[in-house]
Amino acid sequence: MAKFLKQRGTIDIFDTEALLFQHVVSTCQKQARLFNYKPIIIPTFESTALYTRSTGETSDIVTKEMYDFKDKGGRDIALRPEGTAGVIRSIVENKLYAINDLPLRYYYSGSFFRYERPQVGRYREFSQFGVEVVGSNSYLDDAETILLVKNILNSLNIFEYKVRINTFGNANCRNAHRDKIKEFLKDHIDNLCEDCKNRFIKNPLRILDCKVDKEYIEKLSIPVSLDALDDENKEIFEKTLQILKENDVNFEVDPYLVRGLDYYTGIIYEFDISLKDGKVLTIGGGGRYSSLVKELDGPDLSCVGFGLGINRLVLILQDLYQLEHYNESAKFYIMPFDASSYNIAMIIAQTLRMQNQSVVVETNNKSVGSMFKFASKHNFKYAIMIGEEELTNKLYKVKNLETKEQFFVSLDDIKGGKLNG
Ligand code: HAM
Repeated sequence: MAKFLKQRGTIDIFDTEALLFQHVVSTCQKQARLFNYKPIIIPTFESTALYTRSTGETSDIVTKEMYDFKDKGGRDIALRPEGTAGVIRSIVENKLYAINDLPLRYYYSGSFFRYERPQVGRYREFSQFGVEVVGSNSYLDDAETILLVKNILNSLNIFEYKVRINTFGNANCRNAHRDKIKEFLKDHIDNLCEDCKNRFIKNPLRILDCKVDKEYIEKLSIPVSLDALDDENKEIFEKTLQILKENDVNFEVDPYLVRGLDYYTGIIYEFDISLKDGKVLTIGGGGRYSSLVKELDGPDLSCVGFGLGINRLVLILQDLYQLEHYNESAKFYIMPFDASSYNIAMIIAQTLRMQNQSVVVETNNKSVGSMFKFASKHNFKYAIMIGEEELTNKLYKVKNLETKEQFFVSLDDIKGGKLNG
């Protein structure tokens, strides 16, 4: 057995699965660019205070799951548990709102860290693709973020999903709702877990999301945020849902949806997808947050965004389609019959690669028979053979491994694009 093993909750991704992983990330990026999002690349660690101040003093992510430590200079540091706080910190620090037209639209991807109990689709280091729209007061942007997730899923050939959606209205409606919940739960406080007793004081909304008290809470008819909406926010919610309907988004209003982070003030949503065995994975979630930029000492800008779990999307695609479906083979396999062919083999390979063709040169000294076996195993389209005769005539034998057709080409033919079809 190897001496060093990976840490609990971390994963190694390689070969075809790694190709699939990169395909998912690049699909997300490509789709985001169709909405004019620009990339933002931010640090993987920040001050711990950034997350306690933004993501929440009552969220599990901050109170229980954060990888926080003191660095060698005695600073309190945390590995990022999510991306929103860091993106907003960067926007405020670099005053990006003053340089660019609003709304700003940024996308990001990379590793995030939560000290969770590992299980299928839940890791301690995981990958997210996220977007943030900053400086937008329009519900069209809430709708657009949901449409972007839909487009990403559809581009990945995922059509079966469900969006659960809810709204707090705005910060005022949310506060009114919070007060109502507090009033309602006052008589139940003794029956709640220790965490919820603490949440009752700091942020009673989070009690609705408690895993320990789930059953008890579900039996109570707790007031829902939709009942606390004013007329304006009721209308905004309706208009948003109408856009989703008109654009074929498969959604359902879930009045009990509460997200696991503290900053949301408006529409919130989560995307669920079922695996073949019936297990449901939440592949992403997001919503509107209107106070975070100001809380991090920036101007008063309302924002909306989401995060998608890349590892979960990879699991779903492996469940839906064979992993082999995502394998890639190079197009050309160059077979030098002996060392005298090495130099021209390298020149041909480089010529083809400059024409955007994928090429493997056989670098191990294999027999012709084992090179052919290797070629059929790896599904190359063409083999280019370079033996003594080819070297003498400066004409190289090309075999189409699908049709078995054979022909000869010179280096000038290759340079002229003859194999570039
Ligand atoms: P979140 O719901 O905490 O939101 O995470 C988004 C997604 O990341 C989840 O739906 C899930 O797919 C994936 N994820 C979370 N934790 C894990 C884990 N331990 N292992 C594997 N995947 C995981 C956010 O992080 C917000 N920042 C989203 C957002 C952006 N809201 C506004 N802007």
